Amino acid sequence: MERKIQFKVFKFNPSIEVTPTWRVYEVEVDRGTTVLDALLKIKEEQDPSLAIRYSCRQAICGSCGMMINGKQRLACFTRVLELNSKIIYVEPLSNYPIIRDLVTDFSELFSKERSVKPYIIRDDVEEMSNPTGMYLQKPDELLSYLQFADCIECGLCSSACPTVSTDRLFLSPMVLNKAYRFSADSRDSGLVHRLPVIDSEHGCWRCHFAAACSSVCPKGVDPAKSIQLLKRMITSTNIFKKSRKRIVEISSRPHVTLSFP
Ligand code: SF4
Ligand code: SF4
Ligand code: FES
Repeated sequence: MERKIQFKVFKFNPSIEVTPTWRVYEVEVDRGTTVLDALLKIKEEQDPSLAIRYSCRQAICGSCGMMINGKQRLACFTRVLELNSKIIYVEPLSNYPIIRDLVTDFSELFSKERSVKPYIIRDDVEEMSNPTGMYLQKPDELLSYLQFADCIECGLCSSACPTVSTDRLFLSPMVLNKAYRFSADSRDSGLVHRLPVIDSEHGCWRCHFAAACSSVCPKGVDPAKSIQLLKRMITSTNIFKKSRKRIVEISSRPHVTLSFP
């Protein structure tokens, strides 16, 4: 059965406008219609200028994050009627610069992500150059990071994080989760190379464990948990006891990197 629902959508083109406006659209939806379907219908039938970013339409690519009725959600993963609301408010994700309408700029987030070297780092240069076998893992070694590897980089957690709102340089839950996911991998020896960034004044110690990040994660990653595990990993390692100078010296040593999805 179809129902008519009102959508109040944030419209703003910062390159030519000074203030944002809200536009109201009415859309017929049924049980299976997602917010993304409704926005695409608006774009096709009522307002071709509406800017939206999306790709997979199945909660995999992480590109359709937005505020829906005040909460960070994936538009393709949110059924309109399940919101139980006659008016649906749709805005761009908070904590990010707006490119246009519902599209936000993730460049800062991705550059923070690069700073924690989100890939497997190994010290055995000789083995990497002339491999003699596979790097095997036991099931419990896999389980130690598996949940945290489910991140689709949608950035919802960083949008919900109160520390990101007050400290733009805070690495953010998504990035710290990534640092833990790789550092906890039994094939990785890269913690020492990540330490100067994750143990900095804008690193993991700024997280006060309110878990707003985990409450909006559409994949059940729980970045609040991985950040606490990362803190424990740092304090329980001998690396932490070495001087800053030593860390900088070690982290500038050549190492082999292996890109990993
Ligand atoms: S637990 Fe930490 S990272 Fe997550 S929302 Fe709170 S302050 Fe931000
Ligand atoms: S941890 Fe969850 S909310 Fe954060 S970027 Fe990854 S998938 Fe998205
Ligand atoms: S379109 Fe890919 S996650 Fe929504």
